[in-house]
Amino acid sequence: MKTLIIDKTDEKSLWKAGKIIRKGGIVAFPTETVYGLGANAYDENAIKKIYKAKGRPSDNPLIVHIAEIGDLEKVAREIPENARKLVAKFAPGPFTLILKKQPDIPDVVTAGLDTVGVRIPKDATARAFIRLAGVPIAAPSANISGKPSPTKAEHVIADLDGKVDAIICGEDAEIGVESTIIDVTGEIPTILRPGGITKEDIISVCGRVEISQNVLTGVKKNETPKCPGMKYKHYSPDAEITVVEGEKKETADKIKELIKADREKGIKVGVLASSENEFNADLYIFEGKNNREFANVLFDALREFDKNGIEKAYVQMCMKDEMELTVKNRIYKSAGYRIIDLGE
Ligand code: TXA
Ligand code: MG
Repeated sequence: MKTLIIDKTDEKSLWKAGKIIRKGGIVAFPTETVYGLGANAYDENAIKKIYKAKGRPSDNPLIVHIAEIGDLEKVAREIPENARKLVAKFAPGPFTLILKKQPDIPDVVTAGLDTVGVRIPKDATARAFIRLAGVPIAAPSANISGKPSPTKAEHVIADLDGKVDAIICGEDAEIGVESTIIDVTGEIPTILRPGGITKEDIISVCGRVEISQNVLTGVKKNETPKCPGMKYKHYSPDAEITVVEGEKKETADKIKELIKADREKGIKVGVLASSENEFNADLYIFEGKNNREFANVLFDALREFDKNGIEKAYVQMCMKDEMELTVKNRIYKSAGYRIIDLGE
């Protein structure tokens, strides 16, 4: 398939992208979290094309994207009080609400669930594209299933060129990890997947929050998670990732020791660190400001390891703040829960 590559400033081509959606095609587009791969949420055949292009299991539901707060009722049949409060404070923004679905949202979108994930992205190109399409857009992240989510247009092109009708190239993602998924169908809002809207943010408007037990532990065999996507292996680069967590100095010393041993065996080693050090790695990526910045470089770093043929990589986790849970959720998964905890 020939993929149309579109620049976000090219209005005529953006209009064309909207038309491709109405005609049943699939289009990758930027959002402030990660790039998405979209189709008309009402078009079952178009949705099936998304699963095929990504190689995604079809029992993993998609998020429906709308541009206007006023369109929420088109997708969801009940908007509980907590949902209204979160929307009033944070929409448009990097979160998804799980709500009771309207009957005309097809089962291929929700994987047969009675609920639907709804998101109102903030990114200006995403909003323009959804408006031009004129329909709600069902979209997962625009990566090959199992690979790190794309935060730059070049990541999308690397994964999906030739497999989708068009790719809209926009800004690098401002947040860099997928939206916070909040189930608001029960009395207490529950975080199913942490993201750029934090637990503290939710408490500030709803007073309470719960965090799904799978957020830091993964899903055991035979367990049915509330968020079906949690049971799949995610964000796994070719490199073997190990998380080293604890205090700054201890984790840095441990990583240096591990890198030294690996390199003596001729292994190509990478490090994503939050301290500045002489690590002697083949590839050293440093982001030490805070976990929000760390989240922003994370997926790109995982892809950089692969591009550079890194076989083993160490991630230093020593920063404590509101975004720690989000970073840990993603990095633990990519490490297959290989964690060296130097704390206590
Ligand atoms: O930031 C994002 O959310 C990005 C951009 C493109 O908007 N999208 C994204 O989609 O991350 P995806 O498909 O990679 O992840 C969607 C997650 C999956 O883990 C899925 O299981 C969960 O949302 N999900 C979707 N509908 C759900 C529902 N009704 N109940 C529970 N979980 C749901
Ligand atoms: Mg994804």
